This record gives sequence, structure tokens and C-alpha cells, in this order.
Amino acid sequence: MTTQLKIMVGLIFTLLTCVPLAVIAVNDIGHDLGMVSKTERTVMQEREAALKGREIEAGADNYGQYCVGCHGKKGEGIPSVAPAINRKDLLDGSYQKSIGWAGNVTDFLRNTVAAGRPAQSRPDLYTVRMPTWSNQYGGPMRADQVDSLVTFMLNWSEDAPEIDAWPPTAATGPRPTPVPGATPVPGATASAAQKCTAMPAQYAGKKLPYKSDDRTAMAQGKQKYDEVCAACHGTRGRGDGTAAAALNPKPRNFTDKAYMQTLPLDCHFWITMEGSAGTGMAPWKSLGEDTLWKIILYERSFSGVY
Ligand code: HEC
Ligand code: HEC
Repeated sequence: MTTQLKIMVGLIFTLLTCVPLAVIAVNDIGHDLGMVSKTERTVMQEREAALKGREIEAGADNYGQYCVGCHGKKGEGIPSVAPAINRKDLLDGSYQKSIGWAGNVTDFLRNTVAAGRPAQSRPDLYTVRMPTWSNQYGGPMRADQVDSLVTFMLNWSEDAPEIDAWPPTAATGPRPTPVPGATPVPGATASAAQKCTAMPAQYAGKKLPYKSDDRTAMAQGKQKYDEVCAACHGTRGRGDGTAAAALNPKPRNFTDKAYMQTLPLDCHFWITMEGSAGTGMAPWKSLGEDTLWKIILYERSFSGVY
């Protein structure tokens, strides 16, 4: 090839690569000048829409895997488990304003999902805790997965229903002030034996104050268990409650005899009182020791190991 020919070929290729750019430019400029009809989307806009679509899809997948168990299929909430999050006030910013949140809606959602709510704002209404999701705070998700969830939730905005997640002010006092951003300690461990080595001395040797044939205590324990623990631990103690699918780590199977033998009563009591940091297992101290022992009595009946 002669040098001239090489230059020609080079030029032709350069020009060819410019064509798509020129098309995009004309399209966008055309849009601005009104040459392309306003309803027709430019190539750039199409691309943006496609990217956003993909992010919403990823968000929907993550939502189905992690959030449905507590917030419901369409974010409508589940009574006594978790509030509705597909609501107008949460997505248009009026809720954030009412609680004095200084940032925007996107930041509020991202922060809430990433850090969770280690401190429950309404333990009287919701028996579970909003778990921590971002691995930045010891949760199971990457930052881009958290972002996809935020995009997915924001996509509800347009036709979000006016649901009030909290009962009327008069009945329950002022709306809660959530505490996003606190950092829980990652603490999920593999085996009970391992977990129990961290038990504080004050719990060592604690025993069930009820006998396994105490029917009254058992019945009271069952009633409370069904009310507050079954959402995650399952009505039959198999760790398969409605909220369990969304949890990582998952609650254990209380019917597993071999496992229950590795979980002594004092350690069982300790975890129930203090929770398991960094997991969906919250501290339940506030229910009172006597109630907790009755619940434990019932929980042990799933395996028969007391
Ligand atoms: C184990 C149950 C549970 C799971 C799973 C769960 N949440 Fe929550 N979520 C809650 C509870 C309970 C609250 C209310 C917490 C509070 O303020 O005390 C909440 C609050 C929220 C809020 C704030 C609502 C408000 O009014 O302030 C958002 C947003 C939210 N969750 C999104 C999600 C997303 C997204 C997922 C999935 C990654 C998820 N949640 C998974 C229980 C859960
Ligand atoms: C929001 C879901 C949720 C609720 C509600 C809940 N738990 Fe848990 N629980 C868990 C998870 C998740 C674990 C596993 C924690 C871990 O692996 O460290 C767990 C672990 C436990 C353990 C330790 C067993 C073991 O070795 O893993 C006990 C005991 C327990 N829960 C008792 C209770 C009792 C009693 C209640 C009701 C008062 C209750 N839980 C309510 C999610 C929940």
C-alpha cells in the first residue's frame, strides 16, 4: 500500500466512526430545535430509559428476594410486621419533612435501606426490626443493589396510594422519629456453641423456671410466640415464617434435636434477651423475663430438648 492509500483508508474509517455520533447529535439538536417531534425520544433518552429500566428490574428482583416477607408484594406493608412503603407521603417527601429530615427522598430511602433501623421507632406496632442491608454496615448487599432498590421504590411514586402506615396521631401520640444511620455490629456466627462462648457471666447457669408439663405456662408461651416470634421462626418452629425468606442469616430450625442440644437454656435465654447483633434477631428484653421463659418453654417443645 502506498502512504497516500493508507491515509485515505484511515480517513474513511475516521469518518465512518463519526456517523453514529453525528446522528445522535442531529437527533438531540433536532429535539431542541423542534425538528424532531417532542413526543419522540432522542437516542440518548432511549438509552437512559433502557438503563433505568434495567436498574428497576434488578431492584424488583432484590425486592422479591429480600423485602417481600415483611413489606408485602407491592410494598403495601404487613400488619404488625412492617409498615407500607408504597405510600405517597414517603415517596413525595412530605413524610420526611414531617419528621424533620433535612436531605432528599432518595437519600432517606438509601440511608434507611443501607443502615436499617437498629432502634425500632414503633415497637408497639411492628414486632420486628428493619434489618441492615448494605455491606458497608455489615449487611448482605452491595451498594449497587441498595441503589437498585431505591430506584425501584421511587418508580412507585407516580401512582403511590395514600396509605397511612401509622395510626392517627390522636390515638398513638406523635409520629415516630426514625434513627437512620446508626451502625450495628455484624455478629452472625455459624454455630450456637460458638455464639454461646460470648455469653456474659450473669446468664450462666440460668434454668427454665417452668416444668415441661406446665400446661398453663406452655399455653401462654405459645400465645406470645405466635404473636411475636412466628413471623420469622415459623408457627411450627422450623425457621420458615413469612418474614424468614427475606432474612440472612436465617432463623434456625427449633425442631432440630441435634442443634437444640448445642443450644443450652442459659444461652437460649441470653440470645432471646439481648438479640443477635447484625441479624434480624432483635433483643426482646422489653417483653419481661417471665414472658420470655414461657416462650422459651414453648420453643423447646418443638424439639423436646429442655
Ligand atoms: C424483617 C422484616 C423486614 C424486612 C425483611 C425489610 N424491612 Fe423495611 N422495615 C421493617 C420495619 C419493621 C420497618 C419500620 C422500622 C421502624 O421505623 O421501626 C421498616 C422500614 C422500612 C422503610 C422506612 C419506612 C418509613 O416509613 O420510615 C423502608 C424504606 C424500608 N423498610 C425498605 C425496605 C426494603 C427496601 C427492604 C428489602 C431490602 C426491607 N425494607 C426489608 C421491616 C423489614
Ligand atoms: C424479624 C425476625 C425474627 C423475629 C421476629 C424473632 N427472631 Fe429469633 N432469630 C431470628 C434470626 C434471623 C435468628 C438467627 C440469628 C443468628 O444466626 O445469629 C434468630 C435466632 C434466635 C435464637 C437463637 C437460635 C440460634 O441459635 O440461632 C433464639 C433463641 C431466638 N431467635 C428466639 C426468638 C424469640 C423467642 C422470638 C420472639 C420473642 C424471636 N426469636 C423473634 C429472627 C427473628
